[in-house]
Amino acid sequence: MSLAISLTARNAMRRAAVTRSSVLALSRSRLSLQSSSSASSSSAFTAIRHVSSQPADAETGQEATAKYLNDTSPYVLTTYAQPDFVLYKGEGCYLYDVSEKKYLDFTAGIAVNSLGHGNVDIAKILFDQAMSVIHTSNLYHNEWAGTLAKNLIERTRATNGMKDAARVFFSNSGTEANEAALKFARKFGKYGARNASADKFEIISFKSSFHGRTLGSLSATPNEKYQKPFAPLLPGFKYATYGDIASVEALISENTCGVIIEPIQGEGGVYTPSPEFMVALRKRCDEVDALLIYDEIQSGMGRSGYLWAHEAFGPDAHPDIMTMAKALGNGMPIGAAMVTERVAQAIKVGDHGTTFGGNPLACRVGNYVVDQIATPEFLAGVRSKAQVLETGLEKLKNKYPELVTEIRGTGLIRGVQLSVDSSPVISSAVENGLLVITAGTNTIRIVPPLVISEDEIEEGLAILDAALATL
Ligand SMILES: Cc1ncc(COP(=O)(O)O)c(C=O)c1O
Repeated sequence: MSLAISLTARNAMRRAAVTRSSVLALSRSRLSLQSSSSASSSSAFTAIRHVSSQPADAETGQEATAKYLNDTSPYVLTTYAQPDFVLYKGEGCYLYDVSEKKYLDFTAGIAVNSLGHGNVDIAKILFDQAMSVIHTSNLYHNEWAGTLAKNLIERTRATNGMKDAARVFFSNSGTEANEAALKFARKFGKYGARNASADKFEIISFKSSFHGRTLGSLSATPNEKYQKPFAPLLPGFKYATYGDIASVEALISENTCGVIIEPIQGEGGVYTPSPEFMVALRKRCDEVDALLIYDEIQSGMGRSGYLWAHEAFGPDAHPDIMTMAKALGNGMPIGAAMVTERVAQAIKVGDHGTTFGGNPLACRVGNYVVDQIATPEFLAGVRSKAQVLETGLEKLKNKYPELVTEIRGTGLIRGVQLSVDSSPVISSAVENGLLVITAGTNTIRIVPPLVISEDEIEEGLAILDAALATL
């Protein structure tokens, strides 16, 4: 369900020739920001939802849902198994389906909506920028790509993350950010490394990792379920064991141009390696002049309670490239690959590109998100709320010792390891108004908006408790 500005309001504003600043000053109601509800220009579903022009109740909502899904599902390529409800509205940490059923969102769109749903400031920024310019292409400079790049670099250097961060390439998604990183590593291996050679194209990634679905990122994602249907994948990819330096030793050589790793494995089951392993990995990369690439797409942007999860490993484990996406746009598609100056020197005009990446709309939102998240106060808030979550999850582990075998993770990215299939628990939680997702094997992943309150955390824990009790 898209957020739409009523045409009347927009035209009225045009007629009044309002200035950019006065548009921003307008309140949400004066802008008439609303969910699309006019049948003509919106989805068939919207028309159905409002067909009786009565407030949605469970019954009409369920009817509308069934009709909408029957009408439209045959047209949608089924790449996801989706439950039978349709979300149309979000407010803070809650989502609503068309029956007005309310869900507490412990998924944040898979670690994306860190500043919550229906964020009015972001809506205003989107409106203002859309009224100005959405897209110009990378053939020209725009006002926001450079601003966001500078902001990201300065804030990263100001934290304890990636001390040699120098330049940023923007993409539209996580997998594209990783594609860029992998291509930069290949180019560096051929032309930039001290032992550069045509054979220096090998890339090491880790078992249980997830780096995306495009062919390059997929080649770095050794999950048979994801890879097998699309084989053969790219040549030169090797897979080590997360946290095991001996397994890296067995694969790394002068022909390795890059090693890509998540500082916290998200999809793999919420695993964190030891700082000692990461320092040893950094050292081994230096010995063969391979680039160390951190995929902070899920773990970054404050989720760990620090701007970047890799800050926990210390300066001796800083990367040459770091990728990010997800929370950077709070839902606006954007990704980025941040590189050191040495990597940047290997990349020339024309080496890589994207039509949409770096567009002013997404970058302006990204700039706002970074400003909100990368402050000591915000990050301290994440850490203190994370404590509440951790305490509550440990209590559940003590209450259901046979069922909950381990609590993993840090900050507001947590994995609850079950001894049995997690699907019934997840279904029961959803039934009772809590959205949670799976990870790894029988793991429940909890990645709520970072703006979640302690009360909301307690509310979610209570639903999770009830769901575990059903087993
Ligand atoms: C660590 C990591 N890398 C890459 C990706 C791929 O990002 P996207 O889905 O935006 O392509 C994801 C997505 O879940 C991820 O968690």
